[in-house]
Amino acid sequence: MTLTKVSILIKNGRIITSVTDKVSDIYIEGDKIKAIGKNLDVKSELVIDADGLFVFPGGIDPHVHMHLPTPAGFSADDFHSGSIAALYGGTTTLIDFVTPQRGQSMVEALKLRIEEAKDSLADYSFHVSPVEWNKKIGNEIEECIGMGFPSFKIYMAYKNSIGIDDNALYHVMHAVAKHGGIVLAHCEKGDEIEQLRNSFYEQGNTSPKYHALSRPSHLEALAVRRAIDLADQTQCPLYIVHVSASESVKHIIQAQKSEQPLYAETCPQYLLLNESVYEMEFTNAAKFVMSPPIRSEKDNHTLWQAIANGNISSVGTDHCPFTMEQKMQGKDDFRKIPNGAGGVEHRLGLLYTYGVAAGKISLKKMVDVFSTQPAKLFGLYPKKGEIAVGSDADIVIWNPSKSSKISAKSHHSNTDISAWEGFNIKGEPTHVIKGGAIAIENGKLAPNIEKGNLLKRQTTGRSHYFKYLHTPGSNNCGRV
Ligand code: URP
Ligand code: ZN
Ligand code: ZN
Repeated sequence: MTLTKVSILIKNGRIITSVTDKVSDIYIEGDKIKAIGKNLDVKSELVIDADGLFVFPGGIDPHVHMHLPTPAGFSADDFHSGSIAALYGGTTTLIDFVTPQRGQSMVEALKLRIEEAKDSLADYSFHVSPVEWNKKIGNEIEECIGMGFPSFKIYMAYKNSIGIDDNALYHVMHAVAKHGGIVLAHCEKGDEIEQLRNSFYEQGNTSPKYHALSRPSHLEALAVRRAIDLADQTQCPLYIVHVSASESVKHIIQAQKSEQPLYAETCPQYLLLNESVYEMEFTNAAKFVMSPPIRSEKDNHTLWQAIANGNISSVGTDHCPFTMEQKMQGKDDFRKIPNGAGGVEHRLGLLYTYGVAAGKISLKKMVDVFSTQPAKLFGLYPKKGEIAVGSDADIVIWNPSKSSKISAKSHHSNTDISAWEGFNIKGEPTHVIKGGAIAIENGKLAPNIEKGNLLKRQTTGRSHYFKYLHTPGSNNCGRV
């Protein structure tokens, strides 16, 4: 059911964007921001007093996996449940993935995936994954871009299913660059990892810890280096997903210094958790089986620093939850534990608590990595990722004086486990507004909330990506 939207006036909130911090009013009509200013003289059907509260643009999570098929079954959230969890955490836009079977048309797979997502309550879009290379793939890349999907994720890991080799990657990058898109790369040396996994298992090492030991940092960093070189050769803008290791960050900084259009994403789990999680018994350790694995405290530190300095542009969640029953499929063989953890609901709370409140990043930087940079990099800006007249009215009103503890018992994701169990959170949304309508109010999902929109995105080619390249050390660096 579509409801007529009431106009909303948010009064006296402290509006934080990636570049400004000011107390003002915001007037919303329909699905857009209509006016911003002090003491706005407008008649509004709903007034929200935001005195003492922060107002952020709605979050864009550029990396989620809803209803992902795996040998252990689908990831536990579908687009409906996952989008509800997202909204509770202030994320109003999700970018998921289209992963075709080898031999299947990417365009066909994209159309099917669009159908699967139609019950999302957040707005949504997709990165498309070339899982092989041939001429047809080149044509389909052009077609996907023409349809409004200009970003393509490749996997250097998972070689026996969806991963591609360097030759295929070169051709994919060449085609994506030619048509003005961007490649996202999952960087882990797949062949070497496969050998390590099998040899650990054959020696009787079956527990979750061997998942981590078979995916060491240097095999991530080597793949990062290779992806950067191939992107340079093909002049292709590159976004490295879920960066977890200090060694990878070194390569990223080096390439950014040479002004290559290169961006990086990390996730809260690589900022806040360390390898001790794998020392616990199976039912705890299995929650942290994800790729790349959780690294060290030193890596946590490097990644925060890279965010503050602008070398890492974006924080996604890689939301890919499974239930304990699914994780148990790898009880006697870590290779069978489905990879991934949930987190779409907690990105803002974790960034605020352990980034801003802990003095590691500024509020503006938090907004930048949570919303603005993902919007800019993936062709959604300034419709999304901004609080400005004409932008979509996707807004989080955040009360910094509330506190809570994360638990699988109270989260909104469709799984009985959480990698964030017991984490304390400072702050919570009093309101999440999506497309001009209240989606969440004081911890409750609004009834009859409208479905989200499929977002077709724009690309303006390589020069677009240069435009948004961070200059480490510039005044946009986000140090507190
Ligand atoms: O372990 C993870 N990250 N699972 C999701 C798939 C991926 O590699 O992003
Ligand atoms: Zn990945
Ligand atoms: Zn992922």
